[in-house]
Amino acid sequence: MSQAMTTLYGPVAEDMVLVEDLLETVKQTDVGPLSRMLEHALEARGKRLRPALVLLSGALGNYDLNRLVPLGAAIELLHTASLVHDDVVDGATSRRGRPTSNAIFDNALTVLLGDYMFANAAEMVTRTGSLEVTRLFALALMKMTSGELDQDAAAFDVGHDVQQYLSRIGGKTAALFANATEGGAILGEMDRDTVAALRVYGYSLGMAFQIVDDVLDFNGDEELMGKPVGSDLREGTVTLPGLLLLERYPKDNPIKRFFTAKRDRERHLQAAITTVQDTEVLESSMDMARDYVRRAREAIAPIPDGEAKRSLVEVTDYVLDRSS
Ligand code: IPE
Ligand code: IPE
Ligand code: MG
Ligand code: MG
Repeated sequence: MSQAMTTLYGPVAEDMVLVEDLLETVKQTDVGPLSRMLEHALEARGKRLRPALVLLSGALGNYDLNRLVPLGAAIELLHTASLVHDDVVDGATSRRGRPTSNAIFDNALTVLLGDYMFANAAEMVTRTGSLEVTRLFALALMKMTSGELDQDAAAFDVGHDVQQYLSRIGGKTAALFANATEGGAILGEMDRDTVAALRVYGYSLGMAFQIVDDVLDFNGDEELMGKPVGSDLREGTVTLPGLLLLERYPKDNPIKRFFTAKRDRERHLQAAITTVQDTEVLESSMDMARDYVRRAREAIAPIPDGEAKRSLVEVTDYVLDRSS
């Protein structure tokens, strides 16, 4: 983990190594081809934001690492599996600064790799010993899949609105953030109000996180992000900045021109991207992300001050300022 993340994760940073250890065990299999694929999929580490949220939420109550670590590792594994499948769906060739599994092993094998990782994550979550947490975990995966399917169904379609976008990212991204914080709170044996507050915190943080991801797809740095930018529109995915552009400039819109163009598609795509970059829609999108961050902070405001609470507040700033 980078020094910045270690600082950010504060009181739980040291315990994150236990999550790493558990994730390492996933690579153990006698099946050669599977072993090579798992090695590749788990080699490059992401930010580990979701397991950190599990531990930080748990640290607000009864901090039982025997139950929190399996949930953190299960959620990170589920997240990584969903990226493995997402890159097949999006046809992406780089992730975490490296070639994607589908770029190396082809789509068919990569789908099976993702399946194996999902199943392994499900087994891991049962180690929490909580039927409620296991059920919430399964529900989160159902919501994520529904969100991804809905996004795919809406590709190259300009007839969608901001409300539909919010509900889609609520599924594909915020549901898992909510699962991390709510699950951590349940395992920390907190009262119902605190569990609900942490669910709202995680959900709102996840919404802000995906909006920022969608802004970074227009103005981010490919090197820092470790994945290509400008690819959402190319794939026909209209995210918040594009939706705002369509809403504000319905006539003669460059996104519409790109979607309907029969020739010069690359030129039309670049024109659409440049227009998004040069108008106020990116700033308006960030305003919405800031609004979700406000809600996240408000949700946990009643929780007594302490190191873990302070880290949770700092994570909300990080999500808005992040460049990777
Ligand atoms: C990427 O998530 C997928 C989105 C929800 C936008 P992260 O940005 O948390 O990915 P890693 O784990 O750090 O690579
Ligand atoms: C993230 O969506 C995938 C899930 C949340 C399942 P994106 O397609 O926006 O993520 P990146 O940009 O590829 O990381
Ligand atoms: Mg993608
Ligand atoms: Mg993206």
